[in-house]
Amino acid sequence: MIRIAPSLLAADFSRLADQIAQAEAGGADWFHLDVMDGHFVPNITFGPVIVTAIRRCTKLPLDTHLMIESPDDYLEPFREAGSDHIIVHQEVCKDLHRTVARIKGLGAKAGVSINPATPTSTLTEIIPEIDLVLIMSVNPGFGGQKFIEGTLTKLKETRSMIRANKRDVRLEVDGAIDATTAPRVVNAGADVLVAGTSIFREPNIGQAVRDLRKAVEHLGLEYEV
Ligand code: DX5
Ligand code: ZN
Repeated sequence: MIRIAPSLLAADFSRLADQIAQAEAGGADWFHLDVMDGHFVPNITFGPVIVTAIRRCTKLPLDTHLMIESPDDYLEPFREAGSDHIIVHQEVCKDLHRTVARIKGLGAKAGVSINPATPTSTLTEIIPEIDLVLIMSVNPGFGGQKFIEGTLTKLKETRSMIRANKRDVRLEVDGAIDATTAPRVVNAGADVLVAGTSIFREPNIGQAVRDLRKAVEHLGLEYEV
C-alpha cells in the first residue's frame, strides 16, 4: 500500500482545519509537518504550539519532519504536541543511535532523513533501528522546488538496504512529488509520498489527493513487507 502524506507547508494556514479536512476526505493517510528553525535550513516555519493545534484537527498520524539544528532538545515537546512519527536529519545528529532510541522511548515511530547530497551509505547502521527513512528529493527549506533526479538511485539503494534487513521500514520521499514524479519514485522503491504544492495549491484539495493516488495505485505493491 502506498501512503500519501500531504505536507501542510503548502496549505493556507488561515484555514488549516478546513484544508486538513479536505485532504482527509480525499484519502490522505498521514499529515507531514515541516518544522524549520532558520539554522539547518534558510527558512522558519512552526513549533510544537502549531502541532498541538493540528493534532486537534485530525486523528491521522502526524509525521513531524524536524529540519532543525538541535533536534535532541525538542523531541519531548514535539511528541507531547501529538507527533506520531518524529523524523530527524542524519546530518545534525552526532549520536544518531541515541536520538533514535530516545524517540522510540517516547512512544513515537522514529525516522531518519538525508539531504540530496548525503549518501545512502550513512543509513547502513541505523536502518535496523528505525521505522522509516525519508529521502529528500529537493534541498530542504522550501516547497515548490524542482525534483532532483539522483533521488531515484538513492531510493533504489535504500530499498535494497531495507529488503536486506527484512524489517518493516517505510521508505518516504519528500520534495516535488506530483502525478508525474510519483510513479517514478514508487518504481524506485518509495512507499510514502510527501506532497505539498501538488495537493494544497490545487483548487480541489481532495481531488488532488485522489489524482496522486491514481497515479501510483497500480504500482509498488511488491515492496510491502
Ligand atoms: C521541504 C519540505 C517538504 C515540502 C515539500 O523542505 O521538507 O515537505 O513541503 O513541498 P513540495 O511538495 O511543494 O515540494
Ligand atoms: Zn518535509
